[in-house]
Amino acid sequence: MTNVLVVKANNRPDGISTMMYNTFVEEASKNDSLNITTFDVFTENLPHYGQDLFDALGKLQNGEELNEAETASIAAQQKSQAAIKNADVLVFAFPLWNLTIPSALQAFIDYSVQAGFTFKYTAEGKKEFLLGDKKVYLLNARGGYYNTPEVNALEMSVNYMHAVLNNYFGLAITDEVIIEGHAQDQANAGAIIADGLEKVKALAATV
Ligand SMILES: Cc1cc2nc3c(=O)[nH]c(=O)nc-3n(C[C@H](O)[C@H](O)[C@H](O)COP(=O)(O)O)c2cc1C
Repeated sequence: MTNVLVVKANNRPDGISTMMYNTFVEEASKNDSLNITTFDVFTENLPHYGQDLFDALGKLQNGEELNEAETASIAAQQKSQAAIKNADVLVFAFPLWNLTIPSALQAFIDYSVQAGFTFKYTAEGKKEFLLGDKKVYLLNARGGYYNTPEVNALEMSVNYMHAVLNNYFGLAITDEVIIEGHAQDQANAGAIIADGLEKVKALAATV
């Protein structure tokens, strides 16, 4: 069995990236050799990433007791990292909101990345990646067009996911579908979305 982790990063029921998530899961579920699990970053209620986690890690090393916030931070880190570790294939379904990814997805990424888990530095100061090979698929929707170099530089969801997955997880993007322009080009919105969802179906069939 191939373990597929689908990271769902939108809680808008009618969000286009929610539709991409639904389409992917429906199509991929037809393949009996895939064991598909969803990690919904909104319903997992990951606390803000910060000092509670850093304090908790220090306290655990010293065998000290954790307070409530520290316990919640450690639990968030453990479940995020366990989900990543168990997966052979990672799929991220996420929107462009305010030029970036939803904060709940940012929390999941932050809890997942850790020196000693996703990478380590060698004695020579070189970065070595620890997760091994995993396929990665991105499913993204964005209302405007970001296809010229000047405008693309403003886009910090797909660009960010490439950067963090390549540089901190050591994972290359296997394939991606981006549905874009349906807010800017409303006359063609229906066709843009339908075409994109067909591409999600085709991608799901290749996993
Ligand atoms: C809160 C919010 C912020 C958004 N910000 C942007 C944006 O910065 N740029 C853009 O092109 N579209 C933006 N949009 C439109 C979305 O990119 C578009 O709805 C797309 O389908 C992805 O969001 P969805 O999956 O929630 O539909 C925004 C939409 C919402 C709901």
